Amino acid sequence: MNYKILYAFCLILLIPQILVSKGIAIIPSPQFFQEKEGVFVLNQGTSIMVQKDLTAKANQLKNYLEPALGFDLSVTSKSLSGNYIELKKDKNLAQLGNEGYKLEINPNKISLSAFSEKGIFWGIQTLRQLLPDAVLREAPVEGVKWEIPCIVIEDSPRYNWRGLMLDCSRTFIPKEEIKKYIEAISFFKMNVLHMHLTDDQGWRIEIKKYPELTKIASRFHESFDEPEEYAGYYSQDDIKELVAFAAARNVEIVPEIEMPGHTYEVFAAYPQLSCKGDTSKIKSWFPGLGLHKEIFCAGNNETFEFIENVLDEITMLFPSQYVHIGGDEAPKDYWKTCEKCQNRIKNENLANEDELQSWFVKRIEKYLNSKGKKLIGWDEIMDGGLSPGATVMYWRSWDKTVAREIPEIKNDIIFTPTSHCYFDYTYEKISSERMYSFNPVFNEQNQTPGNILGVQANFWSHLDRTSPQIDRQLFPRLLALAEVGWTEKDKKDWDDFKIRLQSKLKSLEIIGIHYFKENY
Ligand code: ACM
Ligand code: ZN
Repeated sequence: MNYKILYAFCLILLIPQILVSKGIAIIPSPQFFQEKEGVFVLNQGTSIMVQKDLTAKANQLKNYLEPALGFDLSVTSKSLSGNYIELKKDKNLAQLGNEGYKLEINPNKISLSAFSEKGIFWGIQTLRQLLPDAVLREAPVEGVKWEIPCIVIEDSPRYNWRGLMLDCSRTFIPKEEIKKYIEAISFFKMNVLHMHLTDDQGWRIEIKKYPELTKIASRFHESFDEPEEYAGYYSQDDIKELVAFAAARNVEIVPEIEMPGHTYEVFAAYPQLSCKGDTSKIKSWFPGLGLHKEIFCAGNNETFEFIENVLDEITMLFPSQYVHIGGDEAPKDYWKTCEKCQNRIKNENLANEDELQSWFVKRIEKYLNSKGKKLIGWDEIMDGGLSPGATVMYWRSWDKTVAREIPEIKNDIIFTPTSHCYFDYTYEKISSERMYSFNPVFNEQNQTPGNILGVQANFWSHLDRTSPQIDRQLFPRLLALAEVGWTEKDKKDWDDFKIRLQSKLKSLEIIGIHYFKENY
């Protein structure tokens, strides 16, 4: 074989793929698409045709587009001909699931159909990504031709859980910033915002029954000289606003209330709930081993009364079926010497402190179940016996012993390993390319997702605390995670992604995100 001929042949095979990718920079990449001749042009004559049940989505599309276009798009339920966009629910698309959609763009008509409203919304995001970047601007842009390339797309996600965790405890992230991140992640079809609301450095959510939590525990001790903007909490009205804002964008907010450890701040307000009973002061985070030994007293019934009262308010505020209860890095030193905790171990026939934590978590799980909710915990909830109904958020990297336990369990799992998904780490450690290479399965042979719900990036806010710093830690590698969670493995390709990513950096800039500049 002549190698030059072989090389030329390979190039011919490759070129159309790259051209397609250049033409339609969609992230995450759709499962199926076919480019066609021609373009649809959005102009002053374009209308949105919709049945009543999708009016809210039509208005959302209109509100997304109008500021940059500078002209109105009318919404109507009347039949149209000519230049229009049709949004339609279609039972025949049930096989694409709740989040799937079909988008067909012809020169005269755009047809977006889906089994559910969620699918329609993701289709709207694809449509926005197909338009020139300038469509993301919030004021009229002159001189742009609002063309959309003709294409047929059929799309649905690989995984149901495509999440981002924001640590709102170490740094209080203001409500408007949270909205910015919700808007940004939904643009890339991510659907979970996990809010880490409580930790040693701050309790960030109003609980009406325990006002001291926010009065005292939402502020660092003044000796740490924290800037005012890092103090604060979300009122219950703020939470309702965020939940509604997120729901309109297909994003579910999952609250996390830490227990039994990472609760130093609680004891600043309610010291009687700890084993030692001492009043603590909120401490600043410091690099190195920063874990506090303080822990909820598992032998004290008042602890459970407190947690259940807190969870009553949490479950009322968050419609999510999940409540995350933390469970990570709980130091057991004080349980070993606390008389009440030791009595609990004896009375409940438990072997040791690990089993006490397992008993603790199961007791809380039962309470959450009675409220119609499911429990999620960090993978330490496996220690001492895992409840079959709990969902495990797996964070410790799988080259450690704990990794080998994973294939044994039948529980639902969300992958957030430190090896790929820790976005407080530097880009030197976790580049976009490394993130992109992650395949969230137990091993490469096991291609069936089974009980894997999906994948999530975790951002801990102890080091990078200002808004531009947080932006840089998250973006652009969050786009890689979005594609890992959405696009089937055999449809992914780093070189192709890189080209699309370049194009989406402009979008990030327009929506005001200070992304990190990587060398590819
Ligand atoms: C964790 O990083 N402690 C979940
Ligand atoms: Zn105790």
